[in-house]
Amino acid sequence: MKKIGLASDHAGYPLKEQVKEWLKEMGYDFVDFGTNSTESCNYPEFAHALANAIENGELTTGIAICGTGNGINMTLNHHTAIRSALCWMPEIAALARQHNDANVMVMPGRFIATDSAKECVTTFLNTAFEGGRHQARIDAIPVK
Ligand code: RB5
Repeated sequence: MKKIGLASDHAGYPLKEQVKEWLKEMGYDFVDFGTNSTESCNYPEFAHALANAIENGELTTGIAICGTGNGINMTLNHHTAIRSALCWMPEIAALARQHNDANVMVMPGRFIATDSAKECVTTFLNTAFEGGRHQARIDAIPVK
């Protein structure tokens, strides 16, 4: 069963718990890197834990959530093996896979409706990278 890595801060925690239920319904396993409550915390700790698991090959795919999505997304993208995409509608989630080969999807927990979040998760996990011209573009992302 494919395992999805999950991370959030306190602002993303409620949606992360909802995402776990959706993943179970869809037949995915998951590894939850925290946080584990709505108590205020610092998102980089959880973002780095998820990114490290992808960088070391333990996992291939992650979903991360903070209030706006920005802080956790910025942190994840400091890791060279991570292409993390901030998604709030399924069309963007699809393009994050098709064009960017994103391996982490970030959602803004305080600014996304539940049905949109569920559609983003389903779309992100079921959309393939298109390759072709997009491969050269993602190859050029790392600072040389
Ligand atoms: C937490 O208040 C909030 O700053 C955080 O979840 C996130 O939105 C930061 O980018």
